[in-house]
Amino acid sequence: MKQLDNITITKIKKEFLSEFAKVSTLEQIEELRLKYFGRKGIIKSLFKQLSDLPLEKRKFLGEQLNTISKELSSMIEEKRTQLNLQVQQQTDIKLTKLYRSLPGVSFLCGNLHPLQKVLNEIIYVFVSLGYKVEYGPEIESEDYNFTKLNIPEDHPARDMQDTLYLELPSERNNKMLLRTHTSPVQIRVLLANKPPIKIIAPGRVYRHDNVDASHLFNFHQVEGLVVDKGIKLSDLKGTLNYFIKSIFGSETVARFRQSYFPFTEPSLEVDIKCISCKGSGCALCKNSGYLEVLGCGMVHPEVLNNVGYGYEEYTGFAFGLGVERIAMLKYGITDMRLFFSNDLRFLKQF
Ligand code: DAH
Repeated sequence: MKQLDNITITKIKKEFLSEFAKVSTLEQIEELRLKYFGRKGIIKSLFKQLSDLPLEKRKFLGEQLNTISKELSSMIEEKRTQLNLQVQQQTDIKLTKLYRSLPGVSFLCGNLHPLQKVLNEIIYVFVSLGYKVEYGPEIESEDYNFTKLNIPEDHPARDMQDTLYLELPSERNNKMLLRTHTSPVQIRVLLANKPPIKIIAPGRVYRHDNVDASHLFNFHQVEGLVVDKGIKLSDLKGTLNYFIKSIFGSETVARFRQSYFPFTEPSLEVDIKCISCKGSGCALCKNSGYLEVLGCGMVHPEVLNNVGYGYEEYTGFAFGLGVERIAMLKYGITDMRLFFSNDLRFLKQF
């Protein structure tokens, strides 16, 4: 074997440099490292050859070999770091692209119950018209729930079939019950205030009903009452027209239809053109083209009389609406039970 000399070392360095220049991947740099610095690598074998040389030459070439070895191995390490960085950057770019095309991480975010949302909207409409919000108790006396509202003793609504009576000690034969409507708040407000009166009363009401798609034994109403000098039917119509347009949209057409309630005279019901078929007739409106929204009327003189108001002096109007009903009409919900089923698939839509 040819003795190790200067020329061999320079030649090997040259070869290394030309191979190094072609390296472009981490695999290739590792291959190169093994080729030169592996256990059986070129540089190792050069070092081995040193021992066969005379001392002087060994010293000289040994130093040279050391320098080159350090130089080349640090080139390899530098290249490796650089290639690592490149790979990292490419992966980052790939990941960024991947994340961009993925759906975003959605956070579970609470929202108001649809009934609360609709109730808030209803309250907002009336408060912006200057109405005060009043609340009454859910446990009510038969006197306020029925008698003072001019609902006669033998009225079917008073029947045990419709009303949930409570076994509470009654004062002067005044039975206690779970209020069947928010109308008794009218009596409470009239007794506690002087006109002008302009209130709404939202709240929970109870009925002895079998639950189905349009009946619950426990639901929500909003009562309205305006009493002052010179209140007319046109005030009622103007107010409720405004209310209907605010809740269902400015293009909604309301219709006032004659009806009967013991505590109003005249009594009316308000319908809107069916939101589903726009009046042409469909299953939702039972082919009538209209949907019932609420009851209303001019406060019955007997009601004013029952709370000590002179009905020659004061007149008023009242209305009562079902919050579930308004929400069902507004969102096209066909089963009232959904509001209380606690089904997130339903609730998340609002
Ligand atoms: N209290 C009635 C009910 O529960 C609704 C109602 C109708 C209230 C007409 C009113 C009204 O104030 O004027 O069915």
